Amino acid sequence: MTAKDGFTYYNPVKIEFGEGVLNKLPKIIGDRKTLVVTSKSNAKNPVFQSLNKHAQSSIVHLIDDVTPNPTFRTIGAYLSTMRNMEIDLIVGYGGGSVLDTAKALSLYKNDTDVVEALIKGNQDQTYVRKPFILVPTTAGSGSEVTPWATVWDDVNQKKFSLHLPDLWAERAICDPRTQLSLPLDFTIQSGLDALSHSLESVWNVNSNPISEHYASMAVARIFEFLPKLLSDPENIEYRSQLLFASLNAGLAFSNTRTAMAHAISYYLTLEKGTPHGIASSAPLPLIVEFIEAEETEMAEKLEQLFSKDLHTRLLNLFRICSVSPDLSTYSLEKFDFQQIKEQVLENQRAKNFFSLSKFTEYWSKKWGLQY
Ligand SMILES: NC(=O)c1ccc[n+]([C@@H]2O[C@H](COP(=O)([O-])OP(=O)(O)OC[C@H]3O[C@@H](n4cnc5c(N)ncnc54)[C@H](O)[C@@H]3O)[C@@H](O)[C@H]2O)c1
Ligand SMILES: [Fe+2]
Repeated sequence: MTAKDGFTYYNPVKIEFGEGVLNKLPKIIGDRKTLVVTSKSNAKNPVFQSLNKHAQSSIVHLIDDVTPNPTFRTIGAYLSTMRNMEIDLIVGYGGGSVLDTAKALSLYKNDTDVVEALIKGNQDQTYVRKPFILVPTTAGSGSEVTPWATVWDDVNQKKFSLHLPDLWAERAICDPRTQLSLPLDFTIQSGLDALSHSLESVWNVNSNPISEHYASMAVARIFEFLPKLLSDPENIEYRSQLLFASLNAGLAFSNTRTAMAHAISYYLTLEKGTPHGIASSAPLPLIVEFIEAEETEMAEKLEQLFSKDLHTRLLNLFRICSVSPDLSTYSLEKFDFQQIKEQVLENQRAKNFFSLSKFTEYWSKKWGLQY
């Protein structure tokens, strides 16, 4: 960075991190009337049950059946059941799907359509926002420190982002004990998603020295601790390192948003049913291959931040996680590669990528498409 390279970085979320920090939550909630939002698998977790018991007098409502990938329909249904609730605070306790649902529900006491209207571009829509506290139980979406929520339109098969200037959590409470019950397949999916968030924040037109610093903290830990965790999933130290990695990835991409890998992922998820963390990470080796072949300056930056041989290290990590780095193994035919290319050219995330037109040319050559 030179003296001329100014930048802005902003993230107002107060973070509590460490084994046992969840015990602080009842005191943080205080006497505020609280709605807790979680999923069925988390509601069964002893860590959650103990929290629920200790904050019993303040928790006046519980939604415990959030399912993966919130939609306009599921959020609309929750908002209508909340119409008569008197609440001061929302606590989201779960993976990215729960955290994003909690964020959307914070626009409470408005028309049930407010979320859809805001997402579809009516930024003048008035809303009242309740404060919310987020407890991530995956590592992860990083949603606890980002100002947006992913909402799917299941009718029109589209993915939207609810992004408001004040959609920040009052606090993020990151306790590795919440991670111990996370099954291995979700550990892999959410860990690779965090890896994608980190790399995407670097090959991004919005990157800055602070986001790059967070990304390098995250990537080093994911490479080291995801493989260790797979052979010792109950190791709280490894869980803690991965949760810290995912938090750092969140801090990185909270200021840049995602880029090309996520732009490609939407097609894989919507058309082929590939889970988000796999879909968002499967394109990473190809993107790095492109950078190493065609973009010297960015290749040098990747080497500086993440050490040498990123491509080889990615392939190695994918092999350990039993995830294919070859996009053609995701039931994608020539037609699909063409569709992805056309969609990517219109996609806002892809426009965050530092070299969109050169990459689409590379993509076309790779998959034998007309350019
Ligand atoms: N808002 C953001 O900044 C942001 C960023 C990335 C991803 N996302 C969104 O987050 C979602 C993915 O989130 P995710 O990867 O955290 O998965 P998830 O929240 O969809 O959870 C996956 C599964 O794991 C279960 N689970 C979660 N934590 C558990 C635990 N500790 N023990 C047992 N089971 C547990 C859930 O109930 C669910 O069945 C996607 O919808 C994605 O679009 C949002
Ligand atoms: Fe993601």
